[in-house]
Amino acid sequence: MAAEQSTHIIRLARAQDAGLLPAIEQCAAQAFRAIEGLGWLADAASISVECHRQWIALSTCWVVIGTHGQPQGFLSAERYGDDLHIHEVSVAQPLQGQGWGRRLVETAIHHARTQQLRAVTLTTFKHVPWNAPFYRRLGFEPHTDQRLENTLVNEYAQGFAPGSRCAMAYKVVCPNRS
Ligand SMILES: CC(C)(COP(=O)(O)OP(=O)(O)OC[C@H]1O[C@@H](n2cnc3c(N)ncnc32)[C@H](O)[C@@H]1OP(=O)(O)O)[C@@H](O)C(=O)NCCC(=O)NCCS
Repeated sequence: MAAEQSTHIIRLARAQDAGLLPAIEQCAAQAFRAIEGLGWLADAASISVECHRQWIALSTCWVVIGTHGQPQGFLSAERYGDDLHIHEVSVAQPLQGQGWGRRLVETAIHHARTQQLRAVTLTTFKHVPWNAPFYRRLGFEPHTDQRLENTLVNEYAQGFAPGSRCAMAYKVVCPNRS
């Protein structure tokens, strides 16, 4: 009998994927029910389809395609100057813990490297196991600048507990960049 192989792949998102991404984000967010004080995120509003369309048009959104050809995870990012900023990474709950989140982030890092960008940035929860500790293991470090400071201020204004979030950056090493 042939060995079972994963038929999942990562590819750039297409316009027709946009409408499917909010449901993936909501499914992924069920993981927060396990974290005291963050369960409300499982019922919070998702990123709009319109935002997804914009990031897809910029070619800075990637999806994990599952066995039935449907997206089951995504990473949405946007370029700000020399930085690629990750807005969201979500993997549908049944697929979590199988390395797809890591592969999505590595895809964004690879893109930043090929574009000769300076860093990949994000904001995240400091103490959720699959947030800051995960990014730290991938090589992200605490980092801040005015743009990231503004992002954190906006997040706290939206209801995140004071001090719960942090900004991080992965410094891209580009051999051709002076
Ligand atoms: C974050 C997320 C995208 C990771 O996707 P994933 O496919 O589960 O990722 P991986 O399988 O590559 O695992 C990522 C890391 O998280 C850890 N992790 C995943 N689920 C975990 C859990 N329930 N408890 C503890 N650690 C967990 C893994 O140990 C892994 O770390 P490692 O690779 O250094 O060993 C996914 O958990 C998710 O969608 N979460 C809800 C939304 C979210 O938090 N998004 C990130 C916003 S900044």
